Amino acid sequence: MATRIVSQEEREKQNYYMQCVRDFNSGRAVRPAACIKTFGCQMNEHDSEKLAGMLERMGYELVPDETAGKYEGRFCDLILFNTCCIRENAEEKVFGHIGALKGAKREKPELLTAVCGCMTEQPHVVEEIKRKYQNVDIIFGTHNLHRLPEFLYGALIDGRRVCELSHTEGEVAEGLPVKRASAWKAWVTIMYGCNNFCTYCIVPYVRGRERSRRRSNILQEIEELAAGGVREITLLGQNVNSYGRDLEEPEQRESFAALLSAVCERTAGSSLRRIRFMTSHPKDLSEELIEVMAKYPSVCNQLHLPVQSGSTEILRRMNRRYTREQYISLVEKIRDRIPGITLSTDLITGFPGETEEDFRETLELVRMLRFDMAYTFIYSPRVGTPAAADPDQVAEELVKDRFSRLLELQNAISREKNEACTGKTFEVLCEGVSRTNPARLTGRTEGNKIVNFTADGICAADAEGKFAKVYIDAAQTWSLEGRALEWEEL
Ligand code: SAH
Ligand code: SF4
Ligand code: F3S
Repeated sequence: MATRIVSQEEREKQNYYMQCVRDFNSGRAVRPAACIKTFGCQMNEHDSEKLAGMLERMGYELVPDETAGKYEGRFCDLILFNTCCIRENAEEKVFGHIGALKGAKREKPELLTAVCGCMTEQPHVVEEIKRKYQNVDIIFGTHNLHRLPEFLYGALIDGRRVCELSHTEGEVAEGLPVKRASAWKAWVTIMYGCNNFCTYCIVPYVRGRERSRRRSNILQEIEELAAGGVREITLLGQNVNSYGRDLEEPEQRESFAALLSAVCERTAGSSLRRIRFMTSHPKDLSEELIEVMAKYPSVCNQLHLPVQSGSTEILRRMNRRYTREQYISLVEKIRDRIPGITLSTDLITGFPGETEEDFRETLELVRMLRFDMAYTFIYSPRVGTPAAADPDQVAEELVKDRFSRLLELQNAISREKNEACTGKTFEVLCEGVSRTNPARLTGRTEGNKIVNFTADGICAADAEGKFAKVYIDAAQTWSLEGRALEWEEL
């Protein structure tokens, strides 16, 4: 079915609730504070920016921690958990946080707790929250995030416990207020959902089918960001390479490569200098996209291309729809066309049926392709996915052993690759003060490598969002170290 946009009527309804909550809040003695706790991927990070935008319009002050700022030692008025369920430990973490707040209502009876995001799209999780966590007042999902004003109205003004999960396919909501976490770096969602049904993955169940935003809406948003001084954007989708396939108007139905080149053309000469995108499914990465990446300097020389396993048999069982050989030749083609490109990947160990032989094929592929970076995961069975029902689950001690062997190998490669950067100078977009050492600044190269660096006499507030040429004098496994040689105008 073609993707629909949330109707004008529905938007007006939400605006009405927004106004009601705002009026209610402006009648309070102190401006209420809200805290959003975000778990999971960039999609969720960006969804939280929209939730924050709506909350701010409803009169809330956004605080970074539930007991932060003027609320030191006291709870804020609203805590919203935007959750992830990609692996079991992600879910456990969220339950731990919600459970820790059980006593908070005794301390502050008017405190509202809301839970949304991927976890709440699973019926068994919603049942558990309802049963065990009486402190949760509002539950909603990923498809109806734009209805937050209505849900908040229900809990705050009507005093109801709200549980609203739209099980229908989501519509695309345009024009929501967004409170972006950064003034110079922005996420832009180009599509929602996933159609791929990799057999281990919960995402298609909790995020629904692929829904692309219209090209005109995406371009308008990006032009506004560029005009507002943003330096770097990341186009987001679970599989950006299938962008546009679901759009109804033929003139809108274009490939991701065509969208990307339109983004580059429209923002050429603006403050926007870096364009990234994620994630790319190897089965859909086209030659056309490689050409666009090679052609436009603003598309970063960096690609995240999850392989998951080096064994064709495991890839088949994962429903990835490419073979080991196809993946290898794709990487060769990309490296050939875009020399020096930084490549990262995702790897799962212990997928059901994985033998020592399969695992060795993964090690061998990693050794051969030498990714700059790899995110390695232990397979986690997810309720309702085909792989979870596979009787061939791998014994825990085997998986742990394989995981540490893989990690050791990849860490050594990451370090070697980083060491090869020493003695060179890279353009780094400064992100502010380094978390590990406040005397240094931090930023990223075009290849997305983290650089911690010194910059004599430069104040972090002035440097944030600015490009510096940084000389690299040391390498770590996950980052580079260096010193700034020169800055663009500060
Ligand atoms: N859409 C993206 C990212 C999906 S989630 C893609 O297709 O690559 C990010 C990563 O989490 C996946 O690439 C996969 O490596 C990992 N992952 C997903 N489900 C998992 C599971 N059940 N157990 C372990 N890792 C998982
Ligand atoms: Fe999950 Fe596969 Fe979709 Fe990625 S492409 S979100 S791993 S089902
Ligand atoms: Fe992202 Fe986690 Fe949902 S990885 S799409 S927030 S399950």
